[in-house]
Amino acid sequence: MEVLLAGGAGYIGSHTAVELLNAGHNVIIVDNYSNSSPEVVRRIQKISRRSIISYEADVRSKTDMMGIMEAHAIDSVIHFAGLKAVGESVKNPLEYYRNNIDTTLNLLECMKDCGVHNIVFSSSATVYGEENPYPYKETMPRGNCSNPYGWTKSMIEQIFEDAVKADPELSVVLLRYFNPIGAHPSGHMGEDPQGIPNNLMPYVAQVAVGRRDHLIVFGNDYPTPDGTCRRDYIHVVDLADGHVKAVEYAAQHKGAEVFNLGTGTPYSVLEIVEAFERSNSVPVKYEFGSRRDGDLAEFWANADKAREVLNWRASRSLDEMCRDTWNWQKSNPNGYNN
Ligand code: NAD
Ligand code: WQD
Repeated sequence: MEVLLAGGAGYIGSHTAVELLNAGHNVIIVDNYSNSSPEVVRRIQKISRRSIISYEADVRSKTDMMGIMEAHAIDSVIHFAGLKAVGESVKNPLEYYRNNIDTTLNLLECMKDCGVHNIVFSSSATVYGEENPYPYKETMPRGNCSNPYGWTKSMIEQIFEDAVKADPELSVVLLRYFNPIGAHPSGHMGEDPQGIPNNLMPYVAQVAVGRRDHLIVFGNDYPTPDGTCRRDYIHVVDLADGHVKAVEYAAQHKGAEVFNLGTGTPYSVLEIVEAFERSNSVPVKYEFGSRRDGDLAEFWANADKAREVLNWRASRSLDEMCRDTWNWQKSNPNGYNN
């Protein structure tokens, strides 16, 4: 299949590109590099030993996206293009709504005009909100999100559901990611946050490599076994494999389907720190701090549906997640700007 990856130079898109190429598909990347760089495309080619087509373009541009879709016989789109920093979305909500929703509407409109019927979307476990009991199951209703970023995902899911009701040709797969971490085992690709990392694993890795002095663990008084929050961390290559299955599924079906992509097993912040130290034999200095606004004590996936329907399950261990993160971080201490 010819798969167009909108936002394909980002953390999850780049790993998905490699797994799609490994599975025999062709990929076309469109990215404005607002949170990535053309170096990522070179790394994808290096790992896969395949040459790929990429465009520097804004997915919100009708002219650019029509030109790209008309130039290639696209079978499916995967929509990764979005802004994703939760705290920033609280400060700049309009930028988040504008970017995340406009990219979606423009992709759907261009797909309709160009006769492309299949799309896979990067949604998030955050759409379950605070109300649902964990483990989260796809049959649960979407809940109240604590920030504009989460609301963009919730609203976009609704947009897709309405679009499939109106267009019997359309096939949509909504993937709700839990907490993606890790890196490609080659050490050539990984997560490269700009500035101070918002997420736990990149922060841990930057402390280990000496870019940051210590981690602040946000709260140790939660009602969890060790008092720190628990999450369902999933290896980014497992997540990428899930996209290969999802895109193949979308091509065979019509309508909208939702899948959780998680492992089904939660780990606490302290368990992550300990696993990182143990598997890499490096110290990670930390201190306890106050709770971060909007954090839930714990949640994880019920991952049964993806296993039963997509024949996909996460197979990589927490130690592999930590080892691959460290391999990437120590070979690329400054990310892609080496
Ligand atoms: P990322 O920032 O690394 O990748 C997103 C890519 O989209 C970047 O390369 C960025 O330059 C590009 N982009 C953004 N707006 C664009 C636009 N208007 N036009 C063209 N390109 C644009 O993020 P990621 O971690 O790879 O996440 C991919 C998707 O998955 C995002 O939609 C994100 O919200 C979602 N998601 C991520 C996580 C996570 O923890 N990483 C969890 C759940 C969902
Ligand atoms: C994990 C745990 C923190 C940093 C976010 C988004 C979610 C999705 C994934 C995009 C929490 C703790 C973190 C630190 C810490 N993103 N922590 N010190 O918050 O589960 O999910 O990323 O779609 O929508 O909300 O992930 O990695 O930020 O935090 O103690 O410096 O680590 O409190 O318990 P989170 P995270």
